[in-house]
Amino acid sequence: MAPCTQRIIAPSLLAADWSRLAEECSRAIRAGADWLHLDVMDGHLVDNITFGPQFVAAIHRTNDIFLDVHLMIERPDHYLERFIKAGADQITVHVEAQHDVGETLRRIRAAGLRCGLAIDGHTPFSAAQPWLDQIDLFLVMTIQAGFGGQDLIPETLDKVRAARAWRDQHGLAYHIEVDGGVNARTLPGVLQAGANAIVAGTALFGAPDMGAAVQHFRTLAV
Ligand code: DX5
Ligand code: ZN
Repeated sequence: MAPCTQRIIAPSLLAADWSRLAEECSRAIRAGADWLHLDVMDGHLVDNITFGPQFVAAIHRTNDIFLDVHLMIERPDHYLERFIKAGADQITVHVEAQHDVGETLRRIRAAGLRCGLAIDGHTPFSAAQPWLDQIDLFLVMTIQAGFGGQDLIPETLDKVRAARAWRDQHGLAYHIEVDGGVNARTLPGVLQAGANAIVAGTALFGAPDMGAAVQHFRTLAV
């Protein structure tokens, strides 16, 4: 597993051109993406609907890249097996969803996957504290989850700072991922706050030269 200080660039497929999905995945891989970030939404936990396990399986069948699956669904425990079978490498679930968080995280790890826990834009850091010693990745949503193309909420970076301090204080090793409104303008603040796994949809898939955009994300000095 990559150390939690290594910078990881994860383009979010939500911002890709879905009429050319295979080409868009190849474009992200050629551009140097470390992970592909897949946003699963069920219209309950968030006010949008995207795709399910069959879609994840199709991406998995046609690509080797690490699949970072972000479940924005109300009952992640109910659908877990299907996403595991679909070929997810890492599954992140929300603390706001209706499930036994600790048990869901245990099941993800027991299946040999990496597990992540996410908190939405307005959820306090304290809501995730009970499980921070059981995760490989902590996802701080830097928007209210549901749609791409929103502006980053600057106050959410306080939670990134809190997550980094907590990790140091408790000798933990989770990655800190940010998701929402990350672009060349907001990236310096995000990195300074302590995030190392960077999700971006619009800023990467929307870039005229995705390779140059990924390279910029990767090399920008903190
Ligand atoms: C939104 C998703 C994000 C989304 C980010 O709830 O979790 O992954 O794709 O999109 P941008 O980078 O456009 O804000
Ligand atoms: Zn996401």
